Amino acid sequence: MAGTADVVVVGGGVIGLSAAWEAARRGLSIALVDPAPGRGAGWVAAGILAPVSETSSERPTLARLFCAAADRWPAFAARLEAATGLATGFQACGAVAVALCASDREALEGLLAAHRALGREASALSASECRSVVDLLSPALDSGVLVPGDHQVDNRALMTALVEACAGAGVQTIAERAAALELDAHGAVAGVATARGDVVRGRWAVLAAGAWTPQIGGVPAGVLPAVRPVKGHVVRLRAAGGRQVFSHVVSGYVYGRHRYLVARADGSVVVGATVEERGFDTTVQAGALRSLLDDARLLVPSADDWEYVECLAGLRPGSPDGAPFVGATRVPGLLVATGHYRNGLLLAPISAEAIAEHLTAGTVLSPFEAFPPDRSGISSASSGPSEAS
Ligand code: GLY
Repeated sequence: MAGTADVVVVGGGVIGLSAAWEAARRGLSIALVDPAPGRGAGWVAAGILAPVSETSSERPTLARLFCAAADRWPAFAARLEAATGLATGFQACGAVAVALCASDREALEGLLAAHRALGREASALSASECRSVVDLLSPALDSGVLVPGDHQVDNRALMTALVEACAGAGVQTIAERAAALELDAHGAVAGVATARGDVVRGRWAVLAAGAWTPQIGGVPAGVLPAVRPVKGHVVRLRAAGGRQVFSHVVSGYVYGRHRYLVARADGSVVVGATVEERGFDTTVQAGALRSLLDDARLLVPSADDWEYVECLAGLRPGSPDGAPFVGATRVPGLLVATGHYRNGLLLAPISAEAIAEHLTAGTVLSPFEAFPPDRSGISSASSGPSEAS
């Protein structure tokens, strides 16, 4: 037997780590099963915390969940830093969204309208005003929008701090791959079996394995949401000088493609991201790298002078209806926390709170009330390969 705990968390990505830490802070004993905690989609990501930019304005309930998530970030980062003594790189930096040409203006108009509809601050900028916010932006831009409420976190510093916080809170890490849920004779959670055949006993299990969540065996049919992998290439560059090259997140619309550049305090710049339906493929493709670098240069011409550091492809857990799956399932003791798609980092603190609330009080956190994990629309969505955008 590999261990016993109140709760077995499957998945040590940003969601699983945050949930494990929050539940441990509230006094539960936690075992976290993951062969490499702190990696996954959250390691590849750029670290943008943008509640409105990546949701549809036609989904106000979902957008309100994202805004509630964003509002928790400053306190969450402060708590994590205080618990670990480690920096997370959280910056209440704001973002400037820009349209490269007139045909990209419509996206900005939608962004402005969505912020206003939700009562979030956003203001239109001329091209020269954009350059007064971020002086490295191209002089050839069309226009922009300033979004003071968008922030950034250094996703890798965050993951490192979460691993440390879990260890400090007594979370037992089992560095194995979870294979199957174990149920007792009444059909309630009894633990999780690992691929090596060990069993971690627990009366609750939280499945937070991102796009891999539906692959956990032993779960009755129809219980797990049909999340799917959505590939995203992300490039890391480094400007000379070892200092942050611009303060705001740059979010750009480039001939219909959405790109972003996130500058970090150490001079590195993260450029993202493609959105591709290619199953569990994480190959780095030349065309995606070229497209990201071309678009980065169109937005910020000096990107051409920066050192190339790395390009990785991660797999976001895509949800059939675009909303996450966080909370209890109909299997007694079984919770899920997945389907966060492009917003895993943003939604980590609020998802952790929702899981911990359920485990300790049996209640549903109000922003999640509209998104029960067994809602209709969880049935399998087909996703054939598509081109990088
Ligand atoms: N949240 C950024 C992305 O998914 O590309």
